[in-house]
Amino acid sequence: MRDNEILEKIESFPRWHYRFDLGGHKTPIYENKMAVRHRNRALHFFDPMVELFGGSLKGKRVLDLGCNAGWWSLRAITEGADYVLGVDGRGMHVEQSEFVFEVKGVEKDRYDFVEANLFDLDFRRFGEFDIVLCLGLLYHISKPIDLMERIGSVSTDLLLVDTAVSPVKGSVFEVRRDSLEEARDAVDYEIVLVPSAQAVHDLASQFGYRTVTLKPDFRNPKGLPDYRGANDYRRGLRRAFFCSKKTDLSELSAEVESLPEAPQSFRREAWRDESFSS
Ligand SMILES: C[S@@+](CC[C@H](N)C(=O)[O-])C[C@H]1O[C@@H](n2cnc3c(N)ncnc32)[C@H](O)[C@@H]1O
Repeated sequence: MRDNEILEKIESFPRWHYRFDLGGHKTPIYENKMAVRHRNRALHFFDPMVELFGGSLKGKRVLDLGCNAGWWSLRAITEGADYVLGVDGRGMHVEQSEFVFEVKGVEKDRYDFVEANLFDLDFRRFGEFDIVLCLGLLYHISKPIDLMERIGSVSTDLLLVDTAVSPVKGSVFEVRRDSLEEARDAVDYEIVLVPSAQAVHDLASQFGYRTVTLKPDFRNPKGLPDYRGANDYRRGLRRAFFCSKKTDLSELSAEVESLPEAPQSFRREAWRDESFSS
């Protein structure tokens, strides 16, 4: 692609969620602090995942759900993944992803991007995946069990979840409302279910995963605390989870945290007694 074509194409999109360097041109990220946020998120969960697999994703097939402009898909390819399938419900994001991959010169047989509501797509058409990325997505959907069932049908090992979490203690899904007009939000229903950390563990466990929650510790390159653009992690409102079917999570280099203790009324023994009383 010629230089002026790249520039024109970058400018043709009303919004960029990430700051890519495309042939020397930076995409105009919609908020500067988001660039720091994405760097911090990579240090928090993506780098430890690559380390967990011995420093490379070579040989891995990756499914990137809610891929937006292909930021994490590109990261997977850069780290050596054989193939990535990105799915997003918004055509603009799929077009951005394809453009990014073309400018970056990624071989065409190493990726596909599909525009679809992920509840309408049979992932099995594309085979099985060693790694599923469910980043920034779980709190934008209304059918978490359906989603996990779909993921479980094609995922052979690691599921990486990064999600807003409800601060309510216990295993709960909090009802919130998204805007279908907002490019980062839900694509089908305005009503969305935001899981608590315990609910993410329970959901993953139902589909055969062992799960750990990462303890956020965001730092700048000098090693000083840096939560710019990432206060939600500091305030306990967002967490990343490693869910594994095969890989030994005790090898994870990142620090993990225990689940908040559920209040008495949320414990299984308590609600069982009460619900069987009628
Ligand atoms: C907050 S963005 C997260 C982007 C990226 N995964 C990240 O973590 O940086 C959520 C993305 O999921 C997409 N999305 C939301 N609900 C979806 C659905 N049901 N099917 C497909 N894509 C969906 C949105 O269009 C948006 O691009």
